[in-house]
Amino acid sequence: MSGINMKCTLLLAGFLVTAMPAAAQDAKKGEELAQQQCAACHGKDFVTGIDPTYPKLAGQYQDYLEKVLRDYKSGARKNPIMNGIAKPLTRDDIRNVSAYLSALSGPLSNQTR
Ligand code: HEC
Repeated sequence: MSGINMKCTLLLAGFLVTAMPAAAQDAKKGEELAQQQCAACHGKDFVTGIDPTYPKLAGQYQDYLEKVLRDYKSGARKNPIMNGIAKPLTRDDIRNVSAYLSALSGPLSNQTR
């Protein structure tokens, strides 16, 4: 009897371990990328950029961030700085970094979502 319980516990534990960190890991990768490649201009907190004209990214909608980054990458949205930055990003990079940035709190966040 305890053998069966043990098996169930292991199965459940295995399921939780494989199912849960997937989302967390993406945002974690996004954090590394953001801190290495984006924080220098947009600020470590992604609210206070090095120039007041640099947009705040913390708490921005995830799908907006993904769309904008894809557009900078393709050239559909033109900006000499961001076109160069977005070009080497992969689809996963864009998804991860957008997940990280949208989860940060800042003046763009609101309580209705
Ligand atoms: C060299 C400075 C610099 C770096 C590094 C940089 N950015 Fe930017 N970013 C800018 C500037 C300037 C703008 C405004 C461009 C415009 O008006 O289209 C901008 C705009 C953006 C926007 C559009 C925001 C909006 O509200 O439409 C996003 C998203 C963005 N950056 C994400 C990133 C990400 C992600 C990285 C790192 C991979 C990054 N940036 C690195 C300078 C930078």
